[in-house]
Amino acid sequence: MKPVHNVYPCVRMRRNRRHDWIRDLVAETSLSAKDFIWSIFVREDPVPAEIRTMPAIRRYSVHELTEAVGQAVDLGLRAIALFPVIDSEKRTDDAREALNQDNVLYQAVGLLKKNFPHVGIITDPALDSFTDHGHDGLYIKDDVANDESLEIICRHALLQAQAGADIVAPSDMMDGRVGEIRKLLDRHGYQNVGIMSYAAKYASNFYGPFREALGSDQCLGKGHKRTYQMDPANVCEALREVALDISEGADSVMIKPGLPYLDVIRQVKDRFLVPTFAFHVSGEYAMLKAAADAGMLSYEKTLIEVMTCFKRAGADGVITYSAVDILKLLSHGGN
Ligand code: PBG
Repeated sequence: MKPVHNVYPCVRMRRNRRHDWIRDLVAETSLSAKDFIWSIFVREDPVPAEIRTMPAIRRYSVHELTEAVGQAVDLGLRAIALFPVIDSEKRTDDAREALNQDNVLYQAVGLLKKNFPHVGIITDPALDSFTDHGHDGLYIKDDVANDESLEIICRHALLQAQAGADIVAPSDMMDGRVGEIRKLLDRHGYQNVGIMSYAAKYASNFYGPFREALGSDQCLGKGHKRTYQMDPANVCEALREVALDISEGADSVMIKPGLPYLDVIRQVKDRFLVPTFAFHVSGEYAMLKAAADAGMLSYEKTLIEVMTCFKRAGADGVITYSAVDILKLLSHGGN
C-alpha cells in the first residue's frame, strides 16, 4: 500500500503557527491605517459631549473636532464620516435645518477641509439629525414618503458637496436616491464627488447608541424604520439593493451593521467586485466596550480581531468609532 504523505504525521498544520514571524508570513489578511474611516459626531453648543451608551466616545464641537482630527491624522487617519448632532430645538418635521447653509455640519466640513485638505470627508444626507420625528426622510400620512424625501435629501447632499465633502454616503434607504443624488451633483458641477451607498442597511437594534448620541431616539419614540430599512432575515434582497445602487451610479457600497452581517459582505464582494465597506455600528462598539469595561474581554485584542474578520469577509474598509484606537494599536504593531 502507498504510504500517505499528505496527512498527519507528515502534515502538521501547527508548523505555520509556531512563531510570530511565520504566522505573520502566512496571514491572508492584514490591517493598515488606510483601511479605516473614523465615524465622529459633531455637536452644536447646547449638546453635551458625553454619550451615555458609548463610553469614551465624544460629541465634538466644531473646534474640538479640528483638534481631534489633527491628532488622528498624526496617527495615520485618512478619512472620516461625520454625523451632526443639532440643538433639539431646531428639529422640525420638514428638517429645514438640513438646508441651513450655516448649520453645524457644513461649518465642520468647511473647517476640516480647510485644515486637512488630504483627509477624505464623508457625509450622510439622511435627515434623522434634523427631523422632530427622528426619521431619515419626511413623515407624511403615517409613513416616510419616498419621493418627497428624495428632493430634500438630494438638496442636502448638494449642500454637503458645496461645503467640501468628498463623498456623500446616503443612509436613508429611499428608493432611487443614488441616481437622483448623482444627477443633481452632476448638474451642479460636482462630478468628482463620490457616492458611497449604504446599499444594504438593515433595520437593526444595534443602532440604539447612535440614536441616543443624535437625540433621535427620543424623537422616534416607539416608531421604527422597518418600512425603509431591510429585514435582517434577507440576503437576496441585499443583493438586489446593491445591484440597483450600482446601476444608479454608486461608486462603492456599504453593508450595515457589521459583524452579524459578514455573510452579506462576502456575497456582495464576490458577486459585484465593487469597493465594499462595512460599518461597525454604535451597538457593536458599545457591546465591546461594555464587556471590556466589565473585565470580560480585552477591548484592544477583540477590536483587532473584529477588524481582521471584516477584511477576511471581503470588506475593503471599515467605518468605525474605534478608528483612532485601532491606529494606535497598529502603530504599536497590532495586538
Ligand atoms: C441614520 C443612521 C443611523 C446610523 C447611521 N446613519 C441610524 C439609523 O438608521 O437609525 C447608525 C450608525 C450606528 O449605529 O453607528 N441615517
